[in-house]
Amino acid sequence: MSHPEVIVCAGGGGVGKTTVSAAFALALANSGYRALIVSIDPARRLADAMGVELGTQARALSLDSGSGQLYGLMPNPEDALRTFIEFLFEEEPDAVERLLQNRLYRALEAMVPGIHELAAISLTWRAIVEHDVDAVVIDTAPSRNAVDFISYPKSLAKLLGGRAVGWLAAIGKRTKIGPQEDKMGRVEQLLVRALGPVASDVAGLFAEMARVRKRFILLNEHASELLLRPETRYFLVASPTAAARDDVDYLIKKLGALEMAPQALILNSAFVPERDWIDVLGAADATTAAIDEVLATLTHEREARQRATARITSTFSKRYPNLPQLPMPFVEAVEPRSIVHALAQHLDIPTLLAR
Ligand SMILES: Nc1ncnc2c1ncn2[C@@H]1O[C@H](COP(=O)(O)OP(=O)(O)OP(=O)(O)O)[C@@H](O)[C@H]1O
Ligand SMILES: [Mg+2]
Repeated sequence: MSHPEVIVCAGGGGVGKTTVSAAFALALANSGYRALIVSIDPARRLADAMGVELGTQARALSLDSGSGQLYGLMPNPEDALRTFIEFLFEEEPDAVERLLQNRLYRALEAMVPGIHELAAISLTWRAIVEHDVDAVVIDTAPSRNAVDFISYPKSLAKLLGGRAVGWLAAIGKRTKIGPQEDKMGRVEQLLVRALGPVASDVAGLFAEMARVRKRFILLNEHASELLLRPETRYFLVASPTAAARDDVDYLIKKLGALEMAPQALILNSAFVPERDWIDVLGAADATTAAIDEVLATLTHEREARQRATARITSTFSKRYPNLPQLPMPFVEAVEPRSIVHALAQHLDIPTLLAR
């Protein structure tokens, strides 16, 4: 399989990451890609933005035009973990049954931080292979730590490759016939005592995990590869506000620590497109006071947005002179889906994907 284009959209809360990601994927599909849009954000916004139901299985979405394909995937934390475990244990169907019966299997969520993100990325990987996807857009969660998930796969691989798993797996095998403390090492004994009555469940869980350790590490590597290849493109999304600006600074530092540089800054809601009816109304002889007031308010709003955008653009140009900035319009529409379609028109794929 040749590697797909991977585009990750990150930014502060509410700046339009989901909307821009959806528009990006739509623009890719419209220009001929077999595109997949994935939301790592458990908030169900992507489905609203696409105007369809989305879930843990990728599904085909309809397009405006063009020869491409568009798929949507929104892993639902409720069943993503289960689906991921089934995927992980694909070659061990009996173990899946045992694991899902283990009343502590949900504890994996607590024991393995980032497992939901890993599950989402693994399901993404699966969808890429299944649908022969050649461009993926990843919409991240609205948190400053959203970018942390990029390094989770590596930490997870370390965790499972570590000694603790070996111990727990060993205990798991022994506790099948009840804990026999005399046969255990000191650390094992302490662990079993500390875990108390759930010791055999926990250990059993790890014993099962240890069976698929290689596959787990492989899935982790695939996930790391999607997110951390030098070719992966990070697009930062901001709206013209001070908070969004600070989030961008933070994310640029974070990415820098991972030796990744953002490809461009998408300045969302940066300007209000020309409305020709305003000129028509303004030029009309017989306007009323009410119309004049509406026109004045609209002009004021538009100018305020222009000033805010000019400020943030100038700050970013000074701080990051090599980071291209892409202004997107503020779209007045009620349906999130219409905003996505409007923004897609403003995303020129060949320019965005130029190296
Ligand atoms: N360019 C735009 N013009 C007008 N409205 C927009 C634009 N972009 C996004 N919106 C609207 O702003 C709201 C927030 O957008 P969105 O959900 O995409 O942000 P987000 O960054 O993903 O939020 P969160 O941080 O909660 O995940 C939505 O109602 C969306 O429809
Ligand atoms: Mg979002």
